[in-house]
Amino acid sequence: MKVTKAVIPAAGLGTRMLPATKTVPKEMLPLVDKPVIQYIVEEAVASGIEDILIVTNRAKSAMDDYFDYHPELEHRLEAGGKAREAETSRAVADMANIFYVRQKETKGLGHAIWRAKRFVGDEPFAILLGDDIMYTEQGAPALRQLIDAAEKYECSAIGTREVPDDLIVKYSSLRIEQLEERVFNILDMNEKPTLETKLSNYAIMGRYVLTSSIFDILENTAPGAGGEIQLTDGMRTLLGRERMVAVDFDAKRYDTGNLRGFLEATIDYALRHPDAGEWLRGFILDKAEKLK
Ligand code: UTP
Repeated sequence: MKVTKAVIPAAGLGTRMLPATKTVPKEMLPLVDKPVIQYIVEEAVASGIEDILIVTNRAKSAMDDYFDYHPELEHRLEAGGKAREAETSRAVADMANIFYVRQKETKGLGHAIWRAKRFVGDEPFAILLGDDIMYTEQGAPALRQLIDAAEKYECSAIGTREVPDDLIVKYSSLRIEQLEERVFNILDMNEKPTLETKLSNYAIMGRYVLTSSIFDILENTAPGAGGEIQLTDGMRTLLGRERMVAVDFDAKRYDTGNLRGFLEATIDYALRHPDAGEWLRGFILDKAEKLK
């Protein structure tokens, strides 16, 4: 099994980040000096992905423009002796082969993934949610850890993380049994459980490697929680037909789709930034002193 294609669903409405996301896609909000989606594309490329499909909608064409050349800007920068800045702009467009498809109606994550059917064909493929950023300081990127497990066990692999009770009810829960450190066999899963119906506190988290069997299943999956076609419902059917494993990947996860997660990511990435990090550290310490 070799995984070279990835899908980034980015057609959600981003209602938790309004009013910023009324006209700017939440995937295009800047995290320090790059939009959120660039971190995700970088993780995919660093994990060995060559072709990426971004699922967008009619309000999100800023993403297509971002991963394109901008000749007027780049010529102007070069003429002004700013070759490095021009190269930074062009490098974004050369990171990977990026394709786009529109989700014409916002019918849920499962529906968005189903739009990737023709792009993916018969191969296993990766999914990276458009607002979940996974930071690894060293070692393999989060998606690579999933691909390694998928290749080892020759099956689908999905990301998981143990979360407290107040969060498990917002995610999907898994029933699992341990195979090795950080890798589990999946026995069952359910979407947005209650504390009574949760299968464990292991939640499905932001990254997936799935076999292409998911597409026929999604085509026949009825709307579930919230009236949307849920990827978890489709994967549950897949689990009835094929083995699936879960990987408790070693990475720090930021959910940039809600205000607190976005602020946390902004501060952490700014502190790591080579130009701004030291200055920000001093600013925060000074501020903290005054807030005491
Ligand atoms: P979220 O629920 O986190 O995104 O979906 P959302 O719907 O934009 O968020 P809120 O609740 O309104 O703030 C998880 C992922 O699935 C994508 C989103 O873009 C996000 O990456 N998604 C969701 C779609 O592509 N299409 C959909 O119909 C729904």
